[in-house]
Amino acid sequence: MRKKWLSFLSLAVGTMLLGSLIAGCGGTKADSKDIKIGGNFELTGNTANFGNQTLNGFKLAFKEANAAGGVLGKQINFIVADNKSEPSEATNAITKLITQDKVVAVIAPVTSSNVLATLQIAQDHKIPLLTATGTNPKITVDDNGKVRPYAFRSCFIDPFQGTIMANFATKSMKAKTAAIYIDNSSDYSKGLAKFFEEAFIANGGQVVAKEAFLQKDQDFKSTLTKIKSVNPDVIFIPAYYEEVGKIVKQSRELGITIPLLGTDGWDDPKIVEVAGAASLNNGFFSNHYSPQDTDPNIQKFVAAYKQEYGQNPSALAALGYDGGKMIVDAITRAGSTDPAKIRDALEQTKNLQVSTGILTLDSNHNPVKSAVVIEMKDGKQSFKEKINP
Ligand code: PHE
Repeated sequence: MRKKWLSFLSLAVGTMLLGSLIAGCGGTKADSKDIKIGGNFELTGNTANFGNQTLNGFKLAFKEANAAGGVLGKQINFIVADNKSEPSEATNAITKLITQDKVVAVIAPVTSSNVLATLQIAQDHKIPLLTATGTNPKITVDDNGKVRPYAFRSCFIDPFQGTIMANFATKSMKAKTAAIYIDNSSDYSKGLAKFFEEAFIANGGQVVAKEAFLQKDQDFKSTLTKIKSVNPDVIFIPAYYEEVGKIVKQSRELGITIPLLGTDGWDDPKIVEVAGAASLNNGFFSNHYSPQDTDPNIQKFVAAYKQEYGQNPSALAALGYDGGKMIVDAITRAGSTDPAKIRDALEQTKNLQVSTGILTLDSNHNPVKSAVVIEMKDGKQSFKEKINP
């Protein structure tokens, strides 16, 4: 009898405890003790280096905010999910962050295709979403030209990046003809191919070959042989480091010595590992920032990052840090953790000092920011020029 009573008691207490635990996690967003922000990152898979770098940048920004007393007196609780570098997994990750973890804002994946796969869910739940790195224009503006109310970013967009590299080809490389080699599995790559082509033609250039590959392809030699046969002045390869590394290596093996041009997707040390330092010489790509830039704000960020992680921040880390600053700034100005109010405040982001400059969002939720061109020299990135919008 007594035993029964005891087990009833423990069951009751257990249930109560469990109940309060559940209430603790799922309780109303506004009155919870911390501020839950979700992070949806490529922690494993094809673009895992990107995801981890960007995550480091966000973590540093949130750590600084928490150390300074938090935001609205509350600590940021950054809950991170792995999207495995796949759009379908990115959709799962954002669903979990919003419906189970009850985050008040979500940091979107790194690569454009993965970001695009999450937009509808953020919109349906009316949770603001910010990508630090996704540069495809469709992330913030839909196919009908309408601004997506809940989508924001802290990086420039691909029409700018594509134009920069087209101008670089025409002016600096004196190119009259170009080949474009596209990653057909990526919205980022397909968009950039188009923007580069438009700008290169506007400059009086001619695109003499357009070829495609898919992520995880290994052998590019037959296509590269085709490209070689039309004898272009440059090859534009807007893609990510894993495949670009192999393409660069195999093109040099085939005796292709012309300049190879790319975009921010080249920005990872792994590219040197895969391609080899010598093959990357005569390789140039557009990027968001360079740690060699002497701008004092950039140097301040580089020093803080080095202190935390013992290495130079990549562009992704800088963008992640900037994105973190944007979120902190928006919640502070909103004076509330209500997602709708955070959204409204994000839209008003103005003159915010971030690592890569002073950030103001335009009416399409995109920052107006400068870009840099990087040259690969014996396996090292060398800062070539800075281009203002
Ligand atoms: N811009 C890339 C995309 O949209 C992601 C990226 C950003 C990669 C910055 C490297 C550096 O897919």
